[in-house]
Amino acid sequence: MNPMFDFSALPPHLQRSLSASLQKTITTPTIICSQDQIAANLHSLLQQLEFPASDVYFPVKVNHTPEVIACLNQLGTNFEIASLGELSILETLKISAQRIIFSNPIKIPSHICAAYHYGIRDFAFDTETELEKIAIHAPQSSIFARLSISNLGAEWALNDKFGIPQTEVVRLMKKAKELNLNPSGIAFHVGWNNKNPETYSNAIGIVSELLEELSRNDIHLKFLNIGGGFPAHNCDSYVLLEAIAHKIKPQLDALQKQYGIRIIAEPGSFLLANAAAMVCKVVEVIQRENKRWIFLDSGICQGFQWVMSQISYAVIYPYHIPKETSFQHYIITGPTCDSHDVFAENVHLPDTIKSGNFMLVFPAGAYISSAQHYNGFDYPETLVIG
Ligand SMILES: Cc1ncc(COP(=O)(O)O)c(C=O)c1O
Repeated sequence: MNPMFDFSALPPHLQRSLSASLQKTITTPTIICSQDQIAANLHSLLQQLEFPASDVYFPVKVNHTPEVIACLNQLGTNFEIASLGELSILETLKISAQRIIFSNPIKIPSHICAAYHYGIRDFAFDTETELEKIAIHAPQSSIFARLSISNLGAEWALNDKFGIPQTEVVRLMKKAKELNLNPSGIAFHVGWNNKNPETYSNAIGIVSELLEELSRNDIHLKFLNIGGGFPAHNCDSYVLLEAIAHKIKPQLDALQKQYGIRIIAEPGSFLLANAAAMVCKVVEVIQRENKRWIFLDSGICQGFQWVMSQISYAVIYPYHIPKETSFQHYIITGPTCDSHDVFAENVHLPDTIKSGNFMLVFPAGAYISSAQHYNGFDYPETLVIG
């Protein structure tokens, strides 16, 4: 490690990647991502849930950098997509259709069609109209139901926008059969960064009731997809996952035993969030009236727009700080001309900070680089007419 820098606030593998990067000339802003940290996160998850890597379907939306996808591919995970754009990334890396599921419950018809032609046969749904669309564009495919569950404890809930009420699942699975589709699974998502073991456990309890009811109706599912949402942001993710795994493993084991069902998951942030930090530089330090501002060469408009939804990121001064240093409170802002481009206010940092210093924004592995063309959807073109 370079003695000038102090990366001790960050996970060990990322520390090494940063140390190696900052010793060279580095253009800023750059996101430094550690493959070893991704591997360590995956290893921890597989150990705690007692999964093989092939039961992990990595959500491409979380980080679609080709090297990240290639790293996970090498580690043996499978993949989950939400759009044709995400499929194109996997196609370029020659990831076969058998290793991809299409988990977006509401899909654009042409995207279903393209996925079907690529060979994908597993599609999520949460409405009758979606089943009808899948039956037309991906005939005889397997479908899995996205169940509506409580997202209690999530920092960002997803259950308003998606999900079938428990009482509707059997009816829709029967409808799928009528449409010559193959009911094969059930999925849920506890919402982003959910630290509450009870929420996972209650969801599995509901699935257990549904599996019973479905089997009474001669519908026998092949998998339960417990989604993502595992704690990953600004927390001790391994310790929190241990508590969740401790709570749900006996339930999952019981379902596997009773119904011979495979358990899969779609962890995104858990694998990626803490594997990267953004390296940027201080452009100016400015005192305006009683406020002190640090202007960085990258801001929330460069992938951190989640800040506007109250998600917080740490801004780290990555140098050893001499004992006698005094501190100031700063507002940390980006380079754009917009006043909302603020990472954080009241950040306590040394008063010696000056232009040209490196700064880190962490965590930056999940949903940051992929905020460009998020979820693989194109930006609209502008047609200038008349
Ligand atoms: C269907 C689906 N699976 C997995 C994920 C990944 O969730 P997380 O990053 O919380 O692990 C998401 C995120 O929105 C999702 O929508």
